[in-house]
Amino acid sequence: MNQGRWPDAAIPPDACLPARPSRGWVPIRRLKPRHRKRVLEHLLALDGADRSLRFGHLASDERILHYVGQLDFERDELFGIFDRRLRLVAMAHLAFIAGEPPAAGISEFGVSVLTRQRGQGLGSRLFEHSVMHARNRGMSKMLIHLARDNAAMLGIVRRAGASIEFEGCDVLAQLPLPADTLGSQIAELLGQQAAELDYRLKARVLRLNG
Ligand SMILES: CC(C)(COP(=O)(O)OP(=O)(O)OC[C@H]1O[C@@H](n2cnc3c(N)ncnc32)[C@H](O)[C@@H]1OP(=O)(O)O)[C@@H](O)C(=O)NCCC(=O)NCCS
Repeated sequence: MNQGRWPDAAIPPDACLPARPSRGWVPIRRLKPRHRKRVLEHLLALDGADRSLRFGHLASDERILHYVGQLDFERDELFGIFDRRLRLVAMAHLAFIAGEPPAAGISEFGVSVLTRQRGQGLGSRLFEHSVMHARNRGMSKMLIHLARDNAAMLGIVRRAGASIEFEGCDVLAQLPLPADTLGSQIAELLGQQAAELDYRLKARVLRLNG
């Protein structure tokens, strides 16, 4: 655990994300290379506007195919939320920026939620989960690139207390991360186990019904 980081930080260890009204537990699963096809299906389902918001440019199908093919599940973390039919309805990519200090300890967050599942808190949950994971991996900062008119994403980063820099039509949000705690480590472990169980149950029900 990384105790002692940000000793003078204004943010106390567990105050990174202000409390929001509870919407119930959401199973967030760690994605593996075997999920590449589902990740591809998820991203290809985004329309042009959403692809621009997610990638900062109007990513073609070929660019998305290339992006998914290049995903490094060992170095980075990908998290997903599956529906009852095991469709990947929301996913986050937490990239760990390689390099010597000052780049070391910095992670970059990207997220997408399918249109029909928006407004249910899934984007926020993936963000909170990624913050917890980045803390637990010893990261000190999270970066989020977003468009100025991306109201939903701006809401998420503002709520977390990120600093916001406007650069023309773009925004760079930076969130300093407090050090991990025993609580954050246990919370992630339990959440992960519960999400695995939830996935296996959904898969079994699908097999029985299928
Ligand atoms: C941004 C995105 C991930 C948000 O996902 P979501 O599951 O709908 O988000 P949530 O339901 O957690 O809502 C987040 C906040 O934005 C608000 N919000 C949601 N949609 C909104 C909209 N269209 N306009 C304004 N605010 C909105 C919510 O009320 C919520 O605020 P609250 O926490 O104060 O209640 C989703 O819109 C998306 O996939 N967009 C395309 C890709 C993208 O923009 N990625 C981000 C750049 S990396």
